[in-house]
Amino acid sequence: DFGLMTYDPAFLNTSSCRSAITYIDGDAGILRYRGYPIEELAEKCSFLEVSWLLLNGELPNPNELSEWTGLIKRHTMLHETTKKFLEGYRYDAHPMGMLISTIAALSTVYPEAKNVFDADNRKLQIARLIAKMPTICAYCYRHHFGLPYVYPDNDLNFTENFMNMMWKMFEPKYLANPILSRALDILFILHADHEQNCSTNTMRCVGSAQGDPYVGCSAAAAALYGPLHGGANEEVLKMLDQIGSKDRVAGFIHQVKEGGGKLMGFGHRVYKNYDPRARIIKWAAEQVFTVTGYNKKIEIALELERIALEDDYFVKRKLYPNVDFYSGIIYEAMGFRPDLFTVLFAIPRVVGWLAQWQEMLLDPEQKIARPRQIYTGHGERHVVPMADRH
Ligand code: SDX
Repeated sequence: DFGLMTYDPAFLNTSSCRSAITYIDGDAGILRYRGYPIEELAEKCSFLEVSWLLLNGELPNPNELSEWTGLIKRHTMLHETTKKFLEGYRYDAHPMGMLISTIAALSTVYPEAKNVFDADNRKLQIARLIAKMPTICAYCYRHHFGLPYVYPDNDLNFTENFMNMMWKMFEPKYLANPILSRALDILFILHADHEQNCSTNTMRCVGSAQGDPYVGCSAAAAALYGPLHGGANEEVLKMLDQIGSKDRVAGFIHQVKEGGGKLMGFGHRVYKNYDPRARIIKWAAEQVFTVTGYNKKIEIALELERIALEDDYFVKRKLYPNVDFYSGIIYEAMGFRPDLFTVLFAIPRVVGWLAQWQEMLLDPEQKIARPRQIYTGHGERHVVPMADRH
């Protein structure tokens, strides 16, 4: 029980922290949000239920869920000036670059967000960010094609509304398909939080200076963009395209073992066992393929996993598929372009960033992040006049 763990308060102003939100046992492959196993939450809950759990510590009762859903729905629209901001981008701007800057721009639309210790104001800003992430993503996608934006439709649930804003009048084949919208809801649950990962740690660090949550989430999204973190799901698809067919997997793995790069979607800083999220995503892929048709890339991915899990190089390094290994295959099958995959990671992860930020903000012993260093530079020395420098 970590509650009994003793620690030096100075520990809290480094890049490490204490938290009661998410528990991971990397050796056993266990992931729990507020004590609930991720497998149960993915099977029995909706993403908005889980977002309430992460933010408030308990699953919502019917009234709480109804009020929370209503609050989210009230804030799915983007201020019209934000749409003009998006229109300033080139048509081929990467959606993550657009997302990162648009989230930061929202801090200028809601200047009251800097009152971070006002609980009602904080709840409103948190709801705004969760509600607007899908809208920003859909607008970035339609901006790329020069299509008119589709306004949020609050008669639809969270993922149906997102898919409607993405594809209405453009890619109608997957609109409001209950199997696909539920699969996306499950993917959002799996990506919602993950303890002190790179982007969440960034949110805590920036948030410890007591700025508003928009600039904190913008910084966290910037961290997520990296190919070693949230950008990996887009890199997995590039890797599978590069391999090209099932019979070329063994040759590709040989190249990796010879030092030719990394298996994208494999390995993890914490999991030294199968990422429990990858197992659930594999199941979700089968559901999605019943609607979209079988995706050949899954055959390459399954063959890559089969060979790697039997290969001593990966076994002794405890490298297993992580959350990114199968998610991109599902997203592509559902019609999402690869350059949107990391945005699809950010949409749910904003909940984890905000839950961890709020927990840090309300921790009376948390100070501004100030990691220490091991100095490896010169001892004291003195300036030599320019004329004497060679
Ligand atoms: C996410 O932190 C989180 O929680 C992140 C995340 C979340 O939900 O927020 O789970 C999401 O970011 C998942 C990770 C997505 N990234 C990738 O899939 C990119 C490919 N994987 C890696 O680059 C790598 O595995 C990391 C970055 C994830 C972890 O890197 P580490 O900590 O250096 O891995 P390690 O210490 O376990 O490595 C041990 C050995 C090293 O080789 P040796 O020096 O011992 O010879 O394994 C090698 C590594 O070079 N290795 C890999 C590898 N990952 C590590 N070799 C080939 N392919 C890989 N994918």
